[in-house]
Amino acid sequence: MWKTAWITGAGTGIGRAVALELAKSGVRVAVSGRSADKLEQLAAEHANIEAFPLDVTDRAKTAMVAEAIEARFGPLDLVVFGAGNYKPVTAADFVAADFDNLMDVNYRGVINGLAAMLPRMRARHAGHIAWIASVAGYRGLPKAAAYGPTKAALINLAECLQPELSRDGVTVSIINPGFVKTPLTAQNDFPMPFLMEAQEAGRLTVKGLKARKFEIAYPWQFVTILKIMRMLPYALYLKIIRR
Ligand SMILES: NC(=O)c1ccc[n+]([C@@H]2O[C@H](COP(=O)([O-])OP(=O)(O)OC[C@H]3O[C@@H](n4cnc5c(N)ncnc54)[C@H](OP(=O)(O)O)[C@@H]3O)[C@@H](O)[C@H]2O)c1
Repeated sequence: MWKTAWITGAGTGIGRAVALELAKSGVRVAVSGRSADKLEQLAAEHANIEAFPLDVTDRAKTAMVAEAIEARFGPLDLVVFGAGNYKPVTAADFVAADFDNLMDVNYRGVINGLAAMLPRMRARHAGHIAWIASVAGYRGLPKAAAYGPTKAALINLAECLQPELSRDGVTVSIINPGFVKTPLTAQNDFPMPFLMEAQEAGRLTVKGLKARKFEIAYPWQFVTILKIMRMLPYALYLKIIRR
């Protein structure tokens, strides 16, 4: 299927699990994130994995890394932009810089990746490009005022680009996980329904990508509940969420 892939946010969590799953199925995988040590540890786990450290908020460096990976691997068949941060915020601790930080990494980080990869894939009329949003992007949720809008923007972005890119021969997927046990969710001080292991998230992500699904969302129980909630009128939705 794919010979080459690039995963950002691959040093830990879901990105790491996706990288390993792909490497084990024979794909040559370039992994990026800021912590070179975590990437090297991951690369040591499988011969198909190579580290390309990167801060995705650096647009010029993102373009250089994309160039460097393709120079080494040949054309990238699959990219998964998964680099992301999370910080719970409430109206009482509203700090504008927290909102900027999450938008810079979660949203603009994906934009920088797309700016680097879309011209290449469009010119080749080939390639699969995916990015990780979240079920938190479906509707507003408590404590997610800084995080949720970045993920809603990513879902909307995928809907905007998919029709045009499919005509150009480029596949688009949006990945919407529920709660997954990773360093990102370790800071949550509330019960996380249907919490799943990162390895399972990696397996389901790769399965969905192989099936070329537009939306890859899991776990299905939580996704179903939230999709029903998405259809509720505001009066009812806000009443439930307040509780
Ligand atoms: N866990 C969940 O329940 C859940 C649910 C829905 C969506 N998601 C999304 O899934 C993605 C992966 O999250 P995760 O749960 O696997 O968390 P994670 O283990 O914390 O992984 C996030 C990765 O992003 C990297 N990263 C952060 N800022 C970066 C930057 N500026 N440039 C490059 N890499 C950066 C981090 O590595 P460095 O710090 O080394 O850079 C880290 O390895 C995120 O987009 C997250 O929003 C997670």
